[in-house]
Amino acid sequence: MLYPGLIRQYRTYLPVAEEAVVTLHEGRTPLFESKGLVKKFNLPIQLYLKLEGLNPTGSFKDRGMTYAVSKAVEMGTKAIICASTGNTSASAAAYAARAGIAAMVVVPEGKIALGKLSQAQIHGAQVFQVKGNFDEALAVVKKISEQDGIILVNSINPHRLLGQQTAAFEIVEDLGDAPDYHFIPVGNAGNIVAYYRGYTRYFEEGKAKQKPKMCGFQAAGSAPIVLNKIIEHPETVASAIRIGNPANWQPAKEVAKESGGFIDKVEDEEILAAYEAVAQVDGFFCEPASAASIAGLIKKAKEGFFKGGEKVVCTLTGHGLKDPDQAIALSPKPHVVEARVEAVLEKLKW
Ligand code: F0G
Repeated sequence: MLYPGLIRQYRTYLPVAEEAVVTLHEGRTPLFESKGLVKKFNLPIQLYLKLEGLNPTGSFKDRGMTYAVSKAVEMGTKAIICASTGNTSASAAAYAARAGIAAMVVVPEGKIALGKLSQAQIHGAQVFQVKGNFDEALAVVKKISEQDGIILVNSINPHRLLGQQTAAFEIVEDLGDAPDYHFIPVGNAGNIVAYYRGYTRYFEEGKAKQKPKMCGFQAAGSAPIVLNKIIEHPETVASAIRIGNPANWQPAKEVAKESGGFIDKVEDEEILAAYEAVAQVDGFFCEPASAASIAGLIKKAKEGFFKGGEKVVCTLTGHGLKDPDQAIALSPKPHVVEARVEAVLEKLKW
């Protein structure tokens, strides 16, 4: 049977009228055991990477968007709106296109990766670039969505988080149980909450014997939850999580506490080192924000956090191709040579 997408796969958890289902056959992403990172950093754990960049628009947002847009269609809505650091807008635009409804996306000018902007544009969304940051953009779209006929599809929309909990279902199905720890980047703080709800649901239904400790990581220049204050001018190279006042701040804090985990911060240098490492030793190209979870893992391992033998899942939230500028900036320049064998051989090393 063809894989039918998340709503039909998890029908009892995501109820919606069949004729309203809008899907790009998102989900069922691979969970890979990391060999390279474990070896390179001498990690005393079993490490698994959940490759969410392999969703149809290249990020985990598709899990929540299929359900939010399907519910919007079920209600007869003709337009959706969101603020975004890039991925939500790409996903919203694609699902709106599939549904044949309008999408309006509001992003901080000059602060989202070009790949993501191109996605929103080619899918036909109306794109607004505001002279401000994500938090200001979110305030604008929240107000606009108070009007009838337009639905907000940021993660304050409860259908988004219900859809996103399916990533935890898949992990439990793949491992036969929940892991001991789940490491994840934190921006607007919805995904950490969604995962924990998913794990809790499967635990309560007896499908998992345990729930993981949820460990979230913000970028140091955009770490409102860690510092316990709104950051007026958030900064980080990881543009997807450049957020100073997360919408799911309180629920995320509660999830970290209740699960026995924490929310911590990592420096941009640590994020970029992790971003490069996972690409070079495991072969996975994720975007910088995704690498915050790996940077956090390396940091904790160095501090002697793990006893040894724990099962840890890290979510790689978005695909590296969305933000190639970062990869190019970090890497050595290609050799430019004559189209002759000798010219190439002269520079060749192995
Ligand atoms: N990783 C990536 C690649 C993201 O795009 C985001 C959020 C996160 C992590 C953080 O997830 O917000 O649930 O804590 N991106 C949003 C957007 C804000 O607009 O695309 P979160």
